[in-house]
Amino acid sequence: MQWITVSSYEELSQIAADRITALMKRKPNAVLGLATGSSPIGIYERLRAAFARGELDFSRACSINLDEYLGLAPDHPQSYRFFMQKHLFDHINIPNESTFVPNGCAKDPEAECRAYDALIEERGIDLQILGIGLDGHIGFNEPGDAFLKGTHIIDLHESTIRANARFFESEDEVPHRAITMGIGGIMNAKEILLIANGASKKEILCAALTGPITPAVPASILQLHPNLTVIYSEE
Ligand code: F6R
Repeated sequence: MQWITVSSYEELSQIAADRITALMKRKPNAVLGLATGSSPIGIYERLRAAFARGELDFSRACSINLDEYLGLAPDHPQSYRFFMQKHLFDHINIPNESTFVPNGCAKDPEAECRAYDALIEERGIDLQILGIGLDGHIGFNEPGDAFLKGTHIIDLHESTIRANARFFESEDEVPHRAITMGIGGIMNAKEILLIANGASKKEILCAALTGPITPAVPASILQLHPNLTVIYSEE
């Protein structure tokens, strides 16, 4: 594991964006595993800017997102598909059909999970960006009794609903269920960048990466990944 501590969110975002840029230069058809939430916004800003300067070409790239709220349509302003369009996809030349976010409105969510696993298996993720929840979740793999390997439907924990209420008008509007890539899909990525911003994340980050490997702290499984970089900013 490589652990990088920086003093600002800007630095964190730049280091992560540089890693993605290096990958894209070496492998223009890279498969990027992407996350939403506040942590990767600075990375996406930098990727958009690099594309605008003509330094990056996403025309052969593919993206596979971690998760989506169950019940939110892709055009719902709080859906993760909407987030990705707004922060990245609408500003770069990645073909729409090469961007994948679980369909939160699938008629058969279980079939959607199986199809998502087949997609992950077929494409293979080169680099996975991860944030970490205050309860130790990655994607929406919430603390539980077991590590769930495949893409699955999950009941969000109270703390996650509370934390994510900041993106909604009120806590009542936050969906209580989500569809998430499982631990297997995440761990199969060739490289993982775990980014955490702010002192509030320090305790869970340390518990996850230096404590016991347990499904009670889902991110702890990352200790077993052969190519993990953690970028932490105290800002
Ligand atoms: C988002 C996701 C979540 C977030 C985590 C941290 O796609 O999978 O696991 O990465 O909740 O969120 P922020 O970055 O908002 O602190």
